[in-house]
Amino acid sequence: MSKEKLRIAVQKSGRLFEDSISILKDAGISIDNGKEQLKASSRNFPLEVMYLRNGDIPQYLRDGVVDVAIIGENVLIEKGKDIIRGEKLGFSKCKVSLAVPKSFNYSSIKDLDGLKIATSYPNTVNEFLKEKGISAELHIINGSVEIAPNIGLADAICDIVSSGSTLFKNGLKEVEVMLKSEAVLAISPQISEGRKAILEKLQFRMKSVLTART
Ligand code: PRP
Ligand code: MG
Repeated sequence: MSKEKLRIAVQKSGRLFEDSISILKDAGISIDNGKEQLKASSRNFPLEVMYLRNGDIPQYLRDGVVDVAIIGENVLIEKGKDIIRGEKLGFSKCKVSLAVPKSFNYSSIKDLDGLKIATSYPNTVNEFLKEKGISAELHIINGSVEIAPNIGLADAICDIVSSGSTLFKNGLKEVEVMLKSEAVLAISPQISEGRKAILEKLQFRMKSVLTART
């Protein structure tokens, strides 16, 4: 039997972690170690799991250092357009939206022309604004984006909206939904034929899990 293993990247910390491990488990794949180890092997399937930071995963896939990943489509749209998108996995559903303070008298995207927008998704925002013929000044921040209008850093924000509670708590309202996203299987353009064969087995098992869940 070949010793080759498929290398899968899973989000180390964040909202995808639990569901990513669950889908592998439901697919009958046991993973021995906790995520503290950053790399773990399965006992009963030729799979090596790597726990990585969300934003780093597209580059690892591009370089072929990992073969496949469980990741939000929103991350691939932002920085992994060249990465192959496989099955949608039905969890971590969210939107990437523009929001403004509740007191902002918003009627259309034109109202944001010339204003400052704080975001962790500059490519997605730029593409959206370009399409609408709007120009804005982007402030790129990596977390707690919703605080920006309250501290005078920006007039509007663009970030992930899931339950909407972060927007609500920060006195913001959603005004444009730029895209909808969920977790997907992302595949390296560099995957070898041998590993592709293992991936097909993994995909078959995942599809069975998804069918059983509906
Ligand atoms: C994420 C995201 C939003 C929030 C959306 O932030 O950046 O702020 O969740 O979820 P909600 O609509 O259910 O409130 P997270 O809490 O992961 O922290 P971070 O932005 O500081 O990384
Ligand atoms: Mg946040």
